[in-house]
Amino acid sequence: MKLLVTGGCGFIGSHFIRLILARRKSWRVLNLDCITYAGRGRNLADLKGNRLYRFLRVDIGSSRAAEIIRRERPDAIVNFAAESHVDRSVHDASVFLKTNTLGVQNLLDAARAAKVGRFLQVSTDEVYGSLPGHALAREDWPLHPSSAYSASKAAADLCCLAAHRTHGQDIVITRCTNNYGPYQFPEKLIPLMITNALHDLPLPVYGDGLQRRDWIHVEDHCRGVLAALERGRAGEIYNFGIGSEPTNLLIVRQILKILGKPKKLIHHVRDRPGHDRRYAVDIAKSRRELSWKPQADFVEGLAATTRWYRENSGWWLRLKDATFQKFYKKNYGQTWPQRCTRATKDMDEK
Ligand code: NAD
Ligand code: TYD
Repeated sequence: MKLLVTGGCGFIGSHFIRLILARRKSWRVLNLDCITYAGRGRNLADLKGNRLYRFLRVDIGSSRAAEIIRRERPDAIVNFAAESHVDRSVHDASVFLKTNTLGVQNLLDAARAAKVGRFLQVSTDEVYGSLPGHALAREDWPLHPSSAYSASKAAADLCCLAAHRTHGQDIVITRCTNNYGPYQFPEKLIPLMITNALHDLPLPVYGDGLQRRDWIHVEDHCRGVLAALERGRAGEIYNFGIGSEPTNLLIVRQILKILGKPKKLIHHVRDRPGHDRRYAVDIAKSRRELSWKPQADFVEGLAATTRWYRENSGWWLRLKDATFQKFYKKNYGQTWPQRCTRATKDMDEK
């Protein structure tokens, strides 16, 4: 099996590549990633010297990506590459459309030209929009994206389904809930709150903090993607989630408790525009057709993840560089304190 993975230097993609090389001993993996602010070759440093793994720095929307696919003729492509942060899509939507929609169409066209066996598009439950009451979105729930991020992902899903209908391409789409775990860029809720708490900085909770997400451990998501790649039916969509719905506030309080930090660090700030209140999916189809089920318990997973960030400050301090500080100021209206900037600089010089 020759597998082409895109976005493998990001959070979920790096866990997926590690999972493949550990569980499918004869598979070869080629990782295409253009290394945006969110990508880090270092996330896969442990694979250095592994002859079954290769990396090329390429944009999925480029003609070079298409050429590589035509030349390599992989058996399958799994696309993780994306702009993934909702807050950034509020400030500038264009790069989201460029990568998440047009980039996917470029990959689809190249996959068809190269007669790639299967194309797996890693999508998100955010395409369903905010869910009412206790409803769970099945895979046929109407698309109702609220942000440029989720709109660009929903558009890509439709492009994938169109390529299946029009050209008979073998395509599978997965829609997972919010992920957490090691190596998540410290702009997303859980790593941002952990790292701010470790710096004794305010924890910016949007609005009342009573929004709900169904947090899943990244390794459960990756096992789901592998199951869909191997057992999913062409033209089908599969949801992944664990069925827990803690509020953001509950998670933030739990992180403070684990770290032994005071509740007064919680600051309610202006709400995110277009903020979805609740995401929740029905995973019956994935259980039935893929024999997949989540394994990690959220409370234990959150504690282990919090410990990982505490013990791996070298990884995340480097990411809080000048670019991150600029984003922080723009998004939260707060200047990054000098003492934290110094900690990042010290880490870079090491
Ligand atoms: P991430 O931001 O951590 O990583 C994205 C990776 O894609 C980075 O390595 C980046 O360099 C790369 N990339 C971005 N634009 C690219 C381009 N034009 N060409 C090549 N590479 C490019 O994101 P993540 O959290 O790992 O998410 C991975 C995928 O999973 C995304 O498609 C996202 O929509 C989806 N997803 C994420 C979550 C979540 O909670 N994080 C949940 C469900 C689905
Ligand atoms: P996030 O991790 O950005 O994922 P998504 O928006 O894709 O669900 O945010 C998760 C939840 O946490 C969401 O309801 C927004 C909220 N949130 C905050 O309250 N403060 C923050 O600083 C961030 C980044 C998120």
